[in-house]
Amino acid sequence: MNPDGLRVAVTGAARGTGRLLAEAFVERGAHVFLAARDLAAVEQVAEQLRPRGRGHADAFRCDLAAPDSIRAFGASVADATPQLDVLVNNGALYVEGYDLGDISDEQIAEVMASAGTGTMLVTTQLLPLLRKSSRPDIVNLISACGEVGHHRSHAHPAFYAAKHAQAGFAEILSHRLRREGIRVISLFPPDFVQDGPRTADSDLTAQSVVDCVMFAVGQPRDCFIREFHFEQVQP
Ligand SMILES: NC(=O)c1ccc[n+]([C@@H]2O[C@H](COP(=O)([O-])OP(=O)(O)OC[C@H]3O[C@@H](n4cnc5c(N)ncnc54)[C@H](OP(=O)(O)O)[C@@H]3O)[C@@H](O)[C@H]2O)c1
Repeated sequence: MNPDGLRVAVTGAARGTGRLLAEAFVERGAHVFLAARDLAAVEQVAEQLRPRGRGHADAFRCDLAAPDSIRAFGASVADATPQLDVLVNNGALYVEGYDLGDISDEQIAEVMASAGTGTMLVTTQLLPLLRKSSRPDIVNLISACGEVGHHRSHAHPAFYAAKHAQAGFAEILSHRLRREGIRVISLFPPDFVQDGPRTADSDLTAQSVVDCVMFAVGQPRDCFIREFHFEQVQP
């Protein structure tokens, strides 16, 4: 891939996989718009990434559970760039729990809002900018929890539901945007570790997830990879 000059937005970029994704794009020369609900935290990350590569890093506030915040983020990105080449829908609130009542009503609503509604609203806001790109990609970090029949995660049922919402959104979007040449690339990883050995008997690592994203985005424009699914290590 030659991401030199690519314009890339990443949600949930203040830590974890979102931060790693932003870093990978900056190191390869892209101009990355990092978004997170904690502006100070994401500004600090952008500051750290700037000297890391040939690219640029700008920080924005975006609370995926708050439509106003998403609209403001969309407007700020539109002020900063005439087009967007890659949107990475990474941010999503994760909460564990076996029983529905293990978390509060407010937490259930926030889990659904951040992954489900938030992904849809960010995509809605940024689609006009993606439509101006000659190589637009929408990447969705979903989860094995969004696969039919999956039950191995300790995530709360609201997280399963939110990831199914994301998966359903991604599936119809991929179909409908295909004729415009906009690729919708979704990853369904099982629980993975941020750091760890990258061997066959080990858990999937965040770096391998990032490498899958870079691979898919780097494919020629006739190659619409729609989904990545992963075989989990046997317990
Ligand atoms: N880690 C895994 O095992 C795993 C497995 C499968 C899929 N995934 C998916 O991969 C993506 C990244 O994973 P991760 O491991 O980095 O996740 P994580 O450690 O659970 O972090 C979640 C990210 O989402 C952000 N977020 C949560 N609520 C938000 C909100 N209302 N508005 C904006 N951002 C919000 C968090 O930001 P704050 O810093 O503000 O909290 C954080 O950056 C997520 O979509 C996750 O569901 C992860």
